[in-house]
Amino acid sequence: MKPSSLRVLAVSSGKGGVGKTNIVANLAYAFAKRSKKVLVVDADLGLNNIDILLGLSPKFHIGHVLSGEKSVEEIIVSGPADIRVLPAGDGLQELTQLDQEKKVVLMDELDRISSGYDFLIFDTSAGISSNVTYFCSAAHETLLVATTEPTSLTDVYALIKTLYTKHAQKHFRLIVNSVGAEREAQLIFHNLTTVTDRFLPNVAVEYLGFILSDSNVSKAVRQQKAFMELYPYAKVSQCVNQLAQKMVDENRPVVGEDQRTLFWRTRF
Ligand SMILES: Nc1ncnc2c1ncn2[C@@H]1O[C@H](COP(=O)(O)OP(=O)(O)O)[C@@H](O)[C@H]1O
Ligand SMILES: [Mg+2]
Repeated sequence: MKPSSLRVLAVSSGKGGVGKTNIVANLAYAFAKRSKKVLVVDADLGLNNIDILLGLSPKFHIGHVLSGEKSVEEIIVSGPADIRVLPAGDGLQELTQLDQEKKVVLMDELDRISSGYDFLIFDTSAGISSNVTYFCSAAHETLLVATTEPTSLTDVYALIKTLYTKHAQKHFRLIVNSVGAEREAQLIFHNLTTVTDRFLPNVAVEYLGFILSDSNVSKAVRQQKAFMELYPYAKVSQCVNQLAQKMVDENRPVVGEDQRTLFWRTRF
């Protein structure tokens, strides 16, 4: 049997509104343009938005899978560049706090359908809720998004601390979004690692890259399309292309020795 090259990424942040969903949608698009098969899972259960961002109108959502009414295959919708999206539903309260049984159902279903995909990306909600930490620990790689706002940094530190102390996760990759220039991103990375090196010395935070602030992002959001599709030559699209190329070139998940996956068998 051909070994699977599946990489499971969780994109998360301490603070909301820092650009996670935009990054997930556009990174997925960039991977797809590099001939990768991508499934985006809207793991922001209770506040769905990846489908809105991409102008999709799904009829069914994860709630229907958890209730046993539909299989995962039946609820997946196709987005731009043939990326596949698993929609989260429309703010059902019960989805915001998945109990253990529902988490197992969801992960088993994802495990079952994951062969054939190169990337599975969780677009998580912000903060340190048990859903966020669950999806991060289930992934091979946790991509943390921060911005230059001071609260974004303190909140991402709080998330790292929780994932380390409660879930023994030691390896993180940082994307700094909405910067005016790359040196701002490097400064944020420096500030964050100064604190993690001091207070969480066993944690490794790696600089993955930066994304420039660009008015084309909100223009694309208003048109419910990926900015990579509408403005492929915009600077912000070049940044996402750079990130995607770097990750595709790695050709394997970048994980610390400690990184466990809850449901995915390590098959590479
Ligand atoms: N690089 C960027 N440049 C300009 N605006 C951005 C950028 N990234 C995100 N935004 C703005 O921030 C808003 C929130 O982004 P979103 O992806 O929904 O964040 P999150 O998923 O973290 O809550 C978007 O509507 C967009 O207008
Ligand atoms: Mg979001």
